[in-house]
Amino acid sequence: MPSFAVVTFGCQMNMHDSTRMEEVLRGAGYAPAQDVEGADVVLLNTCSVREKAEQKLRSEVGRLGQLKRRRPDLVIGVAGCVAQQEGERLLRALPQIDLIIGPDNIPELPRLLADLDTGGLPQVRTVFDVDAPSFLSARPRPGSAGATAFVTVMKGCNERCSYCIVPHTRGPERYRPAREIVDEIATLVRAGVREITLLGQTVNSYRDPEASLPPGPLVAERRWQHTRGSLARQDETEFPALLYRIAEQVPELLRLRYTSPHPRHLTASLIRAHQELPVLARHVHMPVQSGSDRVLRRMIRRYSAAEYVERTDALREAVPDLTLTTDVIVGFPGESDEDFEQTLELMRRVGFVGVFGFKYSQRPFTPALQLADDVSEAEKGRRLERLFATVDERKVAHLTSLVGSTQRVLVEGRGKVQAFSATAGEGTASYTGRTERNEIVHFDAPWDVTGEVLEVTIREAYKNSLAGDLQELPPRRAPAASAASSTRPGGAQPSRVGQDGRRLLPVLG
Ligand code: SAH
Ligand code: SF4
Ligand code: F3S
Repeated sequence: MPSFAVVTFGCQMNMHDSTRMEEVLRGAGYAPAQDVEGADVVLLNTCSVREKAEQKLRSEVGRLGQLKRRRPDLVIGVAGCVAQQEGERLLRALPQIDLIIGPDNIPELPRLLADLDTGGLPQVRTVFDVDAPSFLSARPRPGSAGATAFVTVMKGCNERCSYCIVPHTRGPERYRPAREIVDEIATLVRAGVREITLLGQTVNSYRDPEASLPPGPLVAERRWQHTRGSLARQDETEFPALLYRIAEQVPELLRLRYTSPHPRHLTASLIRAHQELPVLARHVHMPVQSGSDRVLRRMIRRYSAAEYVERTDALREAVPDLTLTTDVIVGFPGESDEDFEQTLELMRRVGFVGVFGFKYSQRPFTPALQLADDVSEAEKGRRLERLFATVDERKVAHLTSLVGSTQRVLVEGRGKVQAFSATAGEGTASYTGRTERNEIVHFDAPWDVTGEVLEVTIREAYKNSLAGDLQELPPRRAPAASAASSTRPGGAQPSRVGQDGRRLLPVLG
């Protein structure tokens, strides 16, 4: 049986595509390899959102090229956003590659590999499924489901943020029928999944292509006004309506999250859903990008800093203790010291407990290419440091405030960090999970408690996570149900690293 390994470089959508590729290959008779070095087929699932991400691909192909010299039958495939962006050009630049496959062509993988196997030429398939969008559903094998899973609700992006390559690499927005979304969630929950994260580039702009959802709450309310005359859509209640539908039809689901929402669709209706649906986690990752209106305009984000604050304030008023995290780009063309100070001010004002910070990186096919990349690398580095320092201060204070409290933790699997529990006995191992508000908690348990929701009393706060002690042990379960799906074939998934080389907060990954 031929073996495969998938290496993931990108965001959650990219990780999710990797899981679908694994399922398609298993379905076609391929087996996961022990590691990348031993695989017959290696698929590099790439990201091109920043230049660094693209460089990673080049060095990885170089490394695999050496392996291929020893094993000429090795098939090197490139999938994901660089594949979509570069297509045939990539084949010419890196002739070691056998296969280039875009995000919408995953179902064709077995056929393309079979062609290669019979001596076919290198293949390139990067066609968007605009006319008949398809969404591959999860096919969890018995006992393989983890505690958490992603479910795609839309793909592509119709925003045109001036710095961003995603609309080019992922194409226009296409929505998945609500019926399919609910079915997939129900299947996953039956397989043992407890928490679902809905995925989309602007996930809260969702609408049901089959128009099967009743209006969400506050449908007749005056629309939020948007900056620069850009209005919200007529009916902004379809995403909240989807949340209600999921809560109603899959009542066994423990927790529901979504990523990434766009602030311009953080509507009164969505806020009401947060208030009324206990299944919604009390944490939202809401990318803001900058705190300066001047920069936001040049980024074409279509909201002002004041609007962002107004909406997130309303959300927090509706849902006490809700935590917020965000994305920020530093050193966007023309960003002055004063603009950047406004970003820091916004970080403090909103009280984010986590940030993904990025140095602006010029990308092909983006409108911002017309602007000079005029903030120096050194200055971008300094701004990034200050950004992290500002948010870290708040994050540490937040985590420290939880010491002594008892938190309900959904256990995701074995942890890497020893919890050093004073009460830990022989044979205990470290486990890790997350609270509803997305704080990571490490603790020790004497047997596998993956997938359980347990009460943990917090003993200590680290920089990015918490350590605590189990209040009460659940009964021991049969081992099969707890196999984690997070182990990737080859185990070669790189951790997310910011442009300054700093490991990003795992809570936000
Ligand atoms: N759809 C998501 C984000 C997708 S990209 C959203 O709109 O929130 C993830 C993050 O990468 C963005 O939020 C942004 O902060 C960052 N990013 C995108 N393009 C970038 C660029 N050219 N340079 C630096 N960071 C970028
Ligand atoms: Fe990129 Fe903006 Fe679309 Fe997000 S909303 S994917 S940042 S263009
Ligand atoms: Fe994701 Fe990177 Fe593509 S962030 S959508 S894999 S460019």
